[in-house]
Amino acid sequence: MTATTKTKARRISQISRGVPTSDGAGVKLTRMLGHQGLDYLDPFLMLDQFRSDNRDDYIAGFPSHPHRGFETVTIMLDGRMRHGDNKGHKGVIGPGGIQWMTAGRGIVHSEMPEQEDGRMWGFQLWVNLPAKQKMTTPRYQEFDADQIPVEDRASGPVRILAGSSASGTTGPVEQIATKPLLLDVSLEPGAVFTEAVPAGHTVFISVYMGEVSAGSETVKDPDLAVLTNGDAVELKAGPKGAGFLLVAGQPLGEPVARYGPFVMNTQAELQQAVTDFQAGRF
Ligand code: CO
Repeated sequence: MTATTKTKARRISQISRGVPTSDGAGVKLTRMLGHQGLDYLDPFLMLDQFRSDNRDDYIAGFPSHPHRGFETVTIMLDGRMRHGDNKGHKGVIGPGGIQWMTAGRGIVHSEMPEQEDGRMWGFQLWVNLPAKQKMTTPRYQEFDADQIPVEDRASGPVRILAGSSASGTTGPVEQIATKPLLLDVSLEPGAVFTEAVPAGHTVFISVYMGEVSAGSETVKDPDLAVLTNGDAVELKAGPKGAGFLLVAGQPLGEPVARYGPFVMNTQAELQQAVTDFQAGRF
């Protein structure tokens, strides 16, 4: 007898068209996840895309604000964002760079454009923390584009930001509770991208260039597609190629109590977060 490995390719179960909104001090962005039509994809709480050549859309930035109980992930495709927090941590995230901030028990920080004009393009993803890590010490993982491994596949380059690809390339972001796989995938026109993903993990893609199809369903820039369960992803680029983020993570299955930048498990913990923040305990 021969052992066979049977894979089950994930299909598209839902497409989110995104909701234009503004946040911070008036930054125009598109909320792809974390809106009425797509509230929570356990463990992912929110995904915003900001993309503009017009300084007026981004220059106001995100002045001082708190976070507690989850992680914020900033992925820059173009432009530069400066951050600084109340613990003295600061830096600049440049084109192709990533910052994975585990807010834990609390930080107060600002995220401001490090440019006066030109294109600002990137994403911010919010990843929930399990109850036992919500009050952990804040931690940063930051990497420039040249620190992120790239697989040069025949279909196009794949940047591995977090987790490991099927070929064993491991991204620099590590020791994250929800075991994320975060890939930045570029596809040549008509090329097919395949990747193994753990069955049972939540998987979505956010298309930022061109279009890709899974079976008979197509998702186009700038939409997000939630994928069904399965242990493989197989996506075919449209005639102009494609660029997308692939995001996978282990669901927490815990209650979510959420109020703006605080994400806890119970209302009492939320109230405590507000009290602690107002008392300057972050
Ligand atoms: Co923030």
